[in-house]
Amino acid sequence: MKLPYFDLSGKVAVITGGATGIGRGISDGLADAGASVVLCARRINVLEEACAEIAQKTGVKTLPHRLDITSTDEINTLVNDVVKEFGHIDILVNNAGVGGSEKPILEMSEEDWDNTVNTDLRGIFLLSQAVGKEMVKQGTGGKVINVASIGGEIIFPNMSAYCASKGGVIQLTKVMALEWIRYNIQVNAILPGYIETPMNTHFFATDVGKKIIKKNIPMNRLGQQDEMKGLAVYLASPASSFMTGSAIIIDGGQTCW
Ligand code: NAI
Repeated sequence: MKLPYFDLSGKVAVITGGATGIGRGISDGLADAGASVVLCARRINVLEEACAEIAQKTGVKTLPHRLDITSTDEINTLVNDVVKEFGHIDILVNNAGVGGSEKPILEMSEEDWDNTVNTDLRGIFLLSQAVGKEMVKQGTGGKVINVASIGGEIIFPNMSAYCASKGGVIQLTKVMALEWIRYNIQVNAILPGYIETPMNTHFFATDVGKKIIKKNIPMNRLGQQDEMKGLAVYLASPASSFMTGSAIIIDGGQTCW
C-alpha cells in the first residue's frame, strides 16, 4: 500500500452489526485496508454470507460470530473465541444498534426504554469493557470506534431512548478515551446523519421520506454505507494516532442548519 499510515495489514477488527448497513460499509473499508474482520450479530446466516463476500473480494481472513450485545455471556464467548482464533484484537467497532419504538415519552413503557438503552448504550459499555481488558492485557494499544448518531447531539422527537443512548455513547466515548490514553488505546465516535440502509430504503422512497430528505439534508440526498469506509479506516489506523475522544459528524451538512 502507498499510504502506510492507513495500512491495517496484520490487524484484527471486531465489528458489531458488521454484515448490514453502516456496519457493512465499515467492515468493507477495514478489509480493503488489510484488516482481518470479525463480523458479529444475531443472524449467523447473514454474517456468513457477508464474510464470504468480503473474503472473496479482499482476500483477508474473516470470521462470522453470533453475538447478542445485551448478553454478557455471549460477549465473553466472542472475545475468547476471537483471541483463540487470531491471538489478538486491535480494533473494536461498536456499530450494532436499534432505532427503538417511536413514541412520545408519555406513551412509552419501561420495556420500550430498556430495549433501546440495553442495546444502544449498555451493550457498548459491556463489549468495550471486555475488549478493553483484552487490549490492555495484550499491551499493544488499540482503536475503538463507537457509532453514535447526530441524534446524540440534535433532537429527534419521539425517540427519547435513542437520543439519550446516543448522547450517552458520545460521553462514554470521551470517558473511555481519557481513561485509556495510558494504554495507547484511542477511542472516537462517528455520528452519522441519515444513511440509506436496508432498514430505511423503503421509507425514504415514500413521499414523506423524500420531503424529510429535502427539508433536512443540505446535500438533498441520503448518505451511503460506502461513505463510512474512509472515516472508519482513518479512525482505525495509525493516521489518527493523535485523535482520541472526538465525535465526528458525517451527515451531508444536516447539522449545519
Ligand atoms: P442496520 O439495522 O443495518 O444495523 C444494525 C445492526 O445491529 C444489525 O446488523 C443488527 O443485526 C445489529 N443488532 C441489533 N441489535 C443487536 C443485538 N442485540 N446484538 C447484536 N447485534 C445487534 O442499521 P444501520 O442503520 O446500519 O445502523 C447501524 C448503526 O448506525 C446503529 O447503531 C444506528 O443507530 C447507527 N445510525 C444509523 C443511521 C442511519 O441513518 N442508518 C443514522 C445514525 C446512526
